[in-house]
Amino acid sequence: MTDRDVALLEVSHLSTTFETQRGPLRAVDDVSLQLGAGETLGIVGESGSGKSVLVRSIMNILGRRATISPESRVVFDGRDTRALRMSEARHFWGREIAMVFQDPMTSLNPVRKIGRQIVEPIRFHLGIDERSATERAVSLLDRVGIPEARRRLDEYPHQLSGGMRQRVTIAIAISCEPKLLVADEPTTALDVTVQKQILDLLAELQEELGMSMILITHDLGVVAAYADRIAVMYAGRIVERASAIELFEQTRHPYTEALLRSIPRIEHESHTVLNAIRGRPPDMTARPTGCSFAPRCEHARERCREDDPRLTDDGRGHEYACFFPVSLSTTTTPERTGPAGAPHRSPEGAR
Ligand SMILES: Nc1ncnc2c1ncn2[C@@H]1O[C@H](COP(=O)(O)OP(=O)(O)OP(=O)(O)O)[C@@H](O)[C@H]1O
Ligand SMILES: [Mg+2]
Repeated sequence: MTDRDVALLEVSHLSTTFETQRGPLRAVDDVSLQLGAGETLGIVGESGSGKSVLVRSIMNILGRRATISPESRVVFDGRDTRALRMSEARHFWGREIAMVFQDPMTSLNPVRKIGRQIVEPIRFHLGIDERSATERAVSLLDRVGIPEARRRLDEYPHQLSGGMRQRVTIAIAISCEPKLLVADEPTTALDVTVQKQILDLLAELQEELGMSMILITHDLGVVAAYADRIAVMYAGRIVERASAIELFEQTRHPYTEALLRSIPRIEHESHTVLNAIRGRPPDMTARPTGCSFAPRCEHARERCREDDPRLTDDGRGHEYACFFPVSLSTTTTPERTGPAGAPHRSPEGAR
């Protein structure tokens, strides 16, 4: 049995609801997933599909207005994380699971020197002295490609470019060699060339440290290049999931097909990406009867408006929630259209 056969993270029947003025909003609806050691799971979907709430629910870092349903289970490395006490959880997150967010300024404190922001978590989690923690901070900054690392310890975040700031947050995230790195749109705020550098850095670090990764993005081109498996989210649910190659070559869900059609061409602005899909996602406080993609689906028939398709495995590890799946598709190949010409990495190949 290889490491990958053992799930590092196992999420079952996770649902998260927010109390809103318009009533309960089910942002994540009965999501189950597994992640093996060293594996990268890409999560894609339009804005509002529940990607961030899903990972924030997994990490239990939601605000007070959110409720995770009682049947939800999150088991990480054999431990039920929902049963962790606050004091245990503080050590767990950061040490075992770390997160990189879209905007480095939300995770970096603008009025504290970079050195303090790296050294303190290292001391907290690893219990080492100031001098050793500082040396570790310097070598981490160096490792993530920050020139003159020692001098940067005395600088403030605003003195760095966006790309360099994101490198700092990555250095903090990997400082305790977590088993899982969750990257929520880690490059959305950066320009295309820097995006590729940051994603390449994450992939290198992942391999070096043997980490698993959850990579959230709007951009199927990005996950094509960096993920082993891809989960496509729509209206709080996973609607299709397969290996990266399978998803591109044997697309089944019409929503995935529409996303693939809207992969940005290199010559376009990267965030025009999903405007190509007509219509809007449903109001999550009032999910329509039937398939929630039906109102926007070119292939929808009567049954799609009446019954709710559940995510089903085709027997070969390719899951989709659709009564009338797209047959062999006319997919857009990611090699030609990936961001900054990102190479397509074979899920079986690289590691
Ligand atoms: N604190 C909150 N209170 C109420 N609703 C929320 C809250 N946070 C998120 N939501 C709702 O939950 C749904 C999922 O949001 P989420 O942030 O997970 O989307 P996302 O897929 O990460 O989108 P994006 O790509 O824009 O980051 C959305 O309908 C959003 O409006
Ligand atoms: Mg998000």
